[in-house]
Amino acid sequence: MSATKDKWLKYWFLKKYKPLAPYVPETRMMTKPAFWNLISKYRHVIFKPVRGSRGRGIIQVSSAGVNTYALHFENIKIKLQGKENTYNYIQRKVGSTRYMIQRRVDRPTIGGCPFDMRVIIQRKETSSTWKVTAKLAKVAGRGYVVSNNERSKGRLLPVKTAIQKSTIRHLSPQSLQSKIDRISLMSARRLRALFPHHRIYGLDVGLDLKGHPWIIEANLFPSMSHFLKLKDRTMYRRIMAYKKSVRTQQVVNRRPLYY
Ligand SMILES: Nc1ncnc2c1ncn2[C@@H]1O[C@H](COP(=O)(O)OP(=O)(O)O)[C@@H](O)[C@H]1O
Ligand SMILES: [Mg+2]
Repeated sequence: MSATKDKWLKYWFLKKYKPLAPYVPETRMMTKPAFWNLISKYRHVIFKPVRGSRGRGIIQVSSAGVNTYALHFENIKIKLQGKENTYNYIQRKVGSTRYMIQRRVDRPTIGGCPFDMRVIIQRKETSSTWKVTAKLAKVAGRGYVVSNNERSKGRLLPVKTAIQKSTIRHLSPQSLQSKIDRISLMSARRLRALFPHHRIYGLDVGLDLKGHPWIIEANLFPSMSHFLKLKDRTMYRRIMAYKKSVRTQQVVNRRPLYY
């Protein structure tokens, strides 16, 4: 089992790091007590497979009045009666797949569709300095919880545009973006202890309605497709240049010291 795809390990490692803890939504492995606890504390939770990707298997569960729970997966919404019954329904649905339960981030919306950010953080081969090389907003397709572009048939927007079109348009895009950059860089530095040779991360960062940033997940193999889909290739080219920067760097470093 590779550690790189283990959402629980990455969650735990980021949450354990004090300066980042306020930005990592509380998460537990899926058990009945964890469900009772998180749903009563937060009213909305996200069930996700520990080794999932591309928005597959994500289920939002909300408390919806007395003894009633609302489930939202793909573009389907259903209501169930009873906590026990709801848990059993989810258990049957997920089968033997390992799942965790996460506090839901109450994300701002654009025309009723929530959005979150994809942030690319990179370092050069011989460097310890991380840099945010690209960032965009993923708007979920209509009727979906997940913002994964392919699955929800969503939209990609520049972060500033997304904020200005959204329900948090009263907040400053500049200060939100610098908060996002700061916690993204902190995450990359922290994850280096777990993945010492790794040089790129693609973080899913959600803002809540107060503009507080939350790290939803850390990807070690972020897709380039988002940046290829944009007409403006500036960010794509910057990511690729940073990836390649290894070579020249290595060549330089192989030169004898007296050169
Ligand atoms: N805690 C959460 N609060 C709000 N939205 C979430 C949360 N967890 C996941 N999502 C939504 O679901 C998407 C997929 O979840 P994620 O944890 O990124 O798994 P995947 O590996 O499938 O991309 C996220 O990009 C986000 O849009
Ligand atoms: Mg994701």
